[in-house]
Amino acid sequence: MNPQLLSMVYDKVSPLINYLPKQQQIQLASYGRQQFMQHFVNYLQFEEYLPESQQACELWGIKFQSQLGNAAGMFKNGDGYDVVAKLGAGAYLGGTSTYNPRVGNKKNGVKLPFIGLHQSQAAINWLGLPNRGDELLATQSITSNKVVGCPIGWSLMRSPDLPENEGVTKLVEGLWRYHNHPQIDFIEINESCPNIKLGVAGIIPRLQRIASEFVAKRQRHLPVIVKLSNDLNPRDLAVILEELIRLKYDGITLGNTSTDYSSILSQITPAERKLFEYFTANFGGGVSGAPLKQKSLELCAEAANQLQRLQPSHEFHIIRSGGVETNQDLLASKQHGVSFNQWYTGFFNVYAQVGSAVYRSVLTN
Ligand SMILES: Cc1cc2nc3c(=O)[nH]c(=O)nc-3n(C[C@H](O)[C@H](O)[C@H](O)COP(=O)(O)O)c2cc1C
Repeated sequence: MNPQLLSMVYDKVSPLINYLPKQQQIQLASYGRQQFMQHFVNYLQFEEYLPESQQACELWGIKFQSQLGNAAGMFKNGDGYDVVAKLGAGAYLGGTSTYNPRVGNKKNGVKLPFIGLHQSQAAINWLGLPNRGDELLATQSITSNKVVGCPIGWSLMRSPDLPENEGVTKLVEGLWRYHNHPQIDFIEINESCPNIKLGVAGIIPRLQRIASEFVAKRQRHLPVIVKLSNDLNPRDLAVILEELIRLKYDGITLGNTSTDYSSILSQITPAERKLFEYFTANFGGGVSGAPLKQKSLELCAEAANQLQRLQPSHEFHIIRSGGVETNQDLLASKQHGVSFNQWYTGFFNVYAQVGSAVYRSVLTN
């Protein structure tokens, strides 16, 4: 089925869905998202968009056909490459995967809880890292039509099902598996999932261990970036950034969804506040979309300031994720030292309006 049609119809009927009890709205949105994605990753009946050459950029010697690609979690099991490459994405990012397969969260009869807050251009998810596990994912082919200009990244993280030490051991094992995957061009380590209770303590020793057991020992050109939370404070950012550079990581992604509900609430439209409060009270989860626009830009700008101070001797990039949805967002990113942008919530907002012109409309407006 044409996912564009599904998305547009859902967008049009969502004001009616708002009359349902909140629990039913969440049930419907969570189920609908999963069904939609199954159609989306398999539908290729649309005209290809090739970004103009001035949209392209080169990072770490790799060509990206535009400065915008999907954020992690959109294609958790490595599907959908051919779709986004054809839409004009500058990169594809698969995962986040973990060592062990995970079915994800289920609560109050809702599997993989998710809700879109359309008026606020936001979403909240409490999926809990569903994925088929590194052993299987690292051996599968992602595409048989790899496009020059749409490199493949992979996001992985320490499994929350294992104790810290064993978790890092298995994460390093996973890094080597993807290192040996011939189609993967860069790695994103997810140090920021809000839906897993890991805590921020221990990040520096963890980064040090991953650096000595993997980053320093890579046997091919495979940039490694680390994704942190958009809730990070500038002081912690400075400390982590300095360490990332010292340990020769290749970049930072800022950042993941937010759990700072009280400060986000004012950015949710009054009509959607009750649903926002219901979801966060009953499931928790991470907020994405427009409420992160300013946060992510400010954090990236702060990271760019720190880079000026630290003057890394190797190529190190800032990648923005959070509230990216318009051409102006891409311009603002560029002005604040961002090398590449990722989008998730904004992608589906724009897709509901323009379908397969989703990249074209944002890259050329
Ligand atoms: C449904 C959903 C699932 C997500 N899953 C992941 C994930 O597996 N790994 C990850 O690093 N981020 C995940 N994220 C966070 C996004 O990658 C992104 O960082 C965040 O949503 C902010 O970007 P946005 O405002 O463009 O959505 C997820 C976000 C959503 C909405």
